[in-house]
Amino acid sequence: MSDATKVSVALGARSYAIHCGASFAALPATLAPLVRGRRCAVITNTTVQPLYGAPVQAALIAAGATPHLLVMPDGEQHKTMATAERVLEQMAAAALDRGSLVVALGGGVVGDIAGFVAGVFMRGIEFVQIPTTLLAMVDSSVGGKTGVNLAAGKNLVGVFHQPRCVYINWSTLQTLPAREFWAGYAEVIKYGMIADADLFARLERETPALLRAITAAAPTIPNVVGSIIECCCAIKARVVAADERENGLRAILNYGHTFGHAIEQLTGYGTYAHGEAVARGMHAAALLACELGLCPQALVQRQRALLEAAGLPVRFPALEPDQVMAAFQHDKKTSAGSVRFVLPRAIGQVELVNDPPVAALRAALRAAQA
Ligand SMILES: NC(=O)c1ccc[n+]([C@@H]2O[C@H](COP(=O)([O-])OP(=O)(O)OC[C@H]3O[C@@H](n4cnc5c(N)ncnc54)[C@H](O)[C@@H]3O)[C@@H](O)[C@H]2O)c1
Ligand SMILES: [Zn+2]
Repeated sequence: MSDATKVSVALGARSYAIHCGASFAALPATLAPLVRGRRCAVITNTTVQPLYGAPVQAALIAAGATPHLLVMPDGEQHKTMATAERVLEQMAAAALDRGSLVVALGGGVVGDIAGFVAGVFMRGIEFVQIPTTLLAMVDSSVGGKTGVNLAAGKNLVGVFHQPRCVYINWSTLQTLPAREFWAGYAEVIKYGMIADADLFARLERETPALLRAITAAAPTIPNVVGSIIECCCAIKARVVAADERENGLRAILNYGHTFGHAIEQLTGYGTYAHGEAVARGMHAAALLACELGLCPQALVQRQRALLEAAGLPVRFPALEPDQVMAAFQHDKKTSAGSVRFVLPRAIGQVELVNDPPVAALRAALRAAQA
């Protein structure tokens, strides 16, 4: 397709391209160099398989592969070791070997499981991401983080395993429930906030029309969505290329997530969509930045207006402040013993702040709950 574009993730020998277009037309040619004569496992779920399983299988056959379809149940509750083990057994039963390829077709849950099994099957085989949710297109399919949940917490088991390519067909968003679309859009707004003031301004201009198009009785996905996705992928690619293993810069992708994770943890995962918790988290983070004198009140208002234009919630749930403070401790494990916040300085510019004063945190929380 001539309208498709490519973003590359520069990771030396593990570099790969993100193909971004409006159809599966280029899929056979994109996959051909990767699959020649190989067995493939297409990992998807019961919702996505009937929608997009056939064109992807046909593309694999056209590219010269022998695809085996492995369909997992739908839902975050299935992102477990038990599911991973079942999928791994199915891969072995299908006689996949070290030269085989895994194709992840679905949202972030499928992508995380498929990437994980690809990362550990026979000590690691190659895989390709075909994301079908907005969140997976702009976030989870790029960067090589894979994982499954334990009873003790989310994403506690996983490996870094980069895909060989990411193929985005954003017309698949046509069938995505609107609430999932807008939850993913919270991450899109996040990219504007952390790295790209032009993207943010563009979202301010485009969001009202987008909301009308996507919430219409017969939703359509305007072309602008494709170019917004491409822009987000380029930002994520840049961040990941600079810091693949999250030793530094990559932490900025967690903007809104320290507060957001606390919300998800305390309200029970699934009460709010992840993006809805992140939207609230970004609002709280901006208020905290303001409280610490890092940014003006006008930034808080501007971000709030965009989140609300996208129909996203901003108010922090009425949780006990002590509980919220305790929930922050959970994020400590991943950031060397500190509670780390990503805070805005300006639209498109953030900084990391470790262990901000408790009084400022409490004041920001009060304001976020007002
Ligand atoms: N690896 C990473 O870097 C990373 C980053 C962010 C999030 N994640 C993970 O991603 C997961 C969330 O991903 P998600 O938001 O995509 O959720 P999801 O995978 O559960 O998908 C949301 C829902 O949409 C359905 N769906 C998917 N594509 C569809 C389509 N085109 N049409 C209709 N329905 C469709 C799914 O079956 C599901 O019911 C979480 O487990 C999170 O931990 C991982
Ligand atoms: Zn997120």
